[in-house]
Amino acid sequence: MGKSTVGGKSRNKELLYVFMTWLVFCTLMLSGHYSSLIELTMSSTSFPISGKSTFSLPTKSLFPIRNTKENLPDGKKDGVLDSCSGRYIYIHDLPSRFNVDIIKNCNSSLIKWFDMCKCVMNGGFGPPATNSRDILQEHGWYATDQFSLEVIFHNRMKKYQCLTNESSLASAIYVPFYAGHDVSRYLWESNISVRDAAGVDFADWISKQPEWKTMWGKDHFFVAGRIIWDFRRETNKSSDWGNNLMLLSEVKNMTVLTIESIPWSPTDIAIPYPTYFHPTSQEEVEAWQKKITQQKRPYLYSFVGAPRPNTQRSIRGRIIEQCLDSREKCKLLNCNISSNDCYDPGRVMEMFLNSRFCLQPTGDSYTRRSTFDSILGGCIPVFFNPGGAYGQYVSYLPKNHSDYSVFIPESDIREGKTSIEEVLRKKSEQEVVKMQKEVIKLIPKVIYVDPSSGLNTSEDAFDIAIKKVLERVNTTRREIVNGRTLTIDKLRKKPQQSRQQYDEDYRLLE
Ligand SMILES: *[C@@H]1O[C@H](CO)[C@@H](O)[C@H](O)[C@H]1NC(C)=O
Ligand SMILES: *[C@@H]1O[C@H](CO)[C@@H](O)[C@H](O)[C@H]1NC(C)=O
Ligand SMILES: *[C@@H]1O[C@H](CO)[C@@H](O)[C@H](O)[C@H]1NC(C)=O
Ligand SMILES: *[C@@H]1O[C@H](CO)[C@@H](O)[C@H](O)[C@H]1NC(C)=O
Ligand SMILES: *[C@@H]1O[C@H](CO)[C@@H](O)[C@H](O)[C@H]1NC(C)=O
Ligand SMILES: *[C@@H]1O[C@H](CO)[C@@H](O)[C@H](O)[C@H]1NC(C)=O
Ligand SMILES: *[C@@H]1O[C@H](CO)[C@@H](O)[C@H](O)[C@H]1NC(C)=O
Ligand SMILES: *[C@@H]1O[C@H](CO)[C@@H](O)[C@H](O)[C@H]1NC(C)=O
Ligand SMILES: *[C@@H]1O[C@H](CO)[C@@H](O)[C@H](O)[C@H]1NC(C)=O
Repeated sequence: MGKSTVGGKSRNKELLYVFMTWLVFCTLMLSGHYSSLIELTMSSTSFPISGKSTFSLPTKSLFPIRNTKENLPDGKKDGVLDSCSGRYIYIHDLPSRFNVDIIKNCNSSLIKWFDMCKCVMNGGFGPPATNSRDILQEHGWYATDQFSLEVIFHNRMKKYQCLTNESSLASAIYVPFYAGHDVSRYLWESNISVRDAAGVDFADWISKQPEWKTMWGKDHFFVAGRIIWDFRRETNKSSDWGNNLMLLSEVKNMTVLTIESIPWSPTDIAIPYPTYFHPTSQEEVEAWQKKITQQKRPYLYSFVGAPRPNTQRSIRGRIIEQCLDSREKCKLLNCNISSNDCYDPGRVMEMFLNSRFCLQPTGDSYTRRSTFDSILGGCIPVFFNPGGAYGQYVSYLPKNHSDYSVFIPESDIREGKTSIEEVLRKKSEQEVVKMQKEVIKLIPKVIYVDPSSGLNTSEDAFDIAIKKVLERVNTTRREIVNGRTLTIDKLRKKPQQSRQQYDEDYRLLE
């Protein structure tokens, strides 16, 4: 789709139409006739988009700018400027087999050696954290699982200030499909049709709903609470990993929020992993920030994690060696199978609170939940691969990555060229304090606050994600109306930079 070959003549006509509509719209806005405006936009079934465009004419307005009186949030009176304008979201009413049924059977069917029931309790936050090291606050701390974002996001969405029950008036449509919990049931299943089944069923169902046709799903979004590679099996070989969800043509039209996207192909939006901290008030956030600002940090650096068996690919073995060589300057928490410490939020946070720098090497994939836990602890992250964060969480982290983190190329560690301790010791006290301040400032933006008590907190990870979705849909909507090639389609078609090239480009930066 996305033909930009719109004839000059029809294009002018189209612009004229848009202008006229706008004029009428403004006149109505000024005179406060909201109801007639709705009628106008609802009745424009023949949006004059170029006949050549693959987009046939939507039956509902593409511009859900106003809302009816009944849909206005509580306390809004007719005639008062609607603060939700352009931000209304409709929650799609999915059959329970696409969400709650998947987690209902958490005991038997979800990942075998893991109690998924614990992971989805308390609205996805998990069980309250035991304050084993006496460093956590009394409230707001949970043993949150790294893959629980679908449930957290769904519950938060239900408390979003600008919900509407009228899908045609929504700027974006949230689809509460628990894609990650679905695939986690079958990741070790050899029959690929079993692995793919729910996703295929979902794609088929969603594209048959009336909401789909307005923008062919381009206003729909959902959360995939696992890394994107779990949903991108490119072949039908059963030995290949994951299901094929992200390759389905319906899903390609939607926006996916995920904890790890493909760093060199920014079509999906990467959002922070959940941390252990889900405060209910701004006071709780600020009290934590104050506490960690005053924290004494006896260790220069630390590493929380496990080695990987493939020593050719993974630098984790090297990092652990270097940490042990640094003796009292480095603190190691080995998360091998025989250790339970890494499931204890108090134990993990204690590491980050006591260190100036925290190593964040790649593991099974580019990103780690630990990156966000270390930020939460006020510990400056050290990355070894640009895909670990810089190429992912662009709306969350400062553009200039030297402001809040240290980068040491993976190859330098692999080849034994660089001593981590030396690199970190070279940073002056002043530099460290400045970076630390920057890290601590990031905390409110990378946490998912508890929606159960009024949401009187500053912009958090959820708010930023929603803003990005609304911006993207907004752009796409304008491009559709103007008969332009969609930016999102251009991004998808861009010749894919190879992984190697991507890594290489970043290496040259340093
Ligand atoms: C899961 O199993 C445990 C014990 O085996 C039980 O206490 C718990 O209620 C079960 N949870 C659900 C949701 O069935
Ligand atoms: C949507 O409809 C449901 C059920 O009718 C109602 O409980 C809810 O308050 C409505 N939400 C909004 C935002 O109007
Ligand atoms: C895979 O599962 C499907 C659906 O359960 C079944 O029809 C098919 O025979 C299975 N294929 C193999 C190779 O076992
Ligand atoms: C995988 O199998 C499906 C269903 O049989 C088929 O539609 C698809 O083209 C196959 N994909 C590849 C890459 O062979
Ligand atoms: C995806 O969107 C394009 C327009 O960008 C449309 O032509 C295509 O039919 C859509 N795919 C599905 C499965 O709806
Ligand atoms: C696993 O970790 C524990 C605690 O960190 C450590 O004592 C033990 O030596 C480690 N075991 C192996 C095999 O590395
Ligand atoms: C990025 O930040 C570092 C330190 O904070 C500074 O030295 C550098 O000049 C900045 N780079 C750019 C391109 O602004
Ligand atoms: C919201 O938080 C601010 C600052 O933390 C506080 O002054 C205000 O009273 C709070 N409002 C409500 C309704 O709790
Ligand atoms: C959508 O685009 C319009 C026109 O560019 C702009 O005025 C509006 O603020 C945008 N809304 C959002 C939510 O980005």
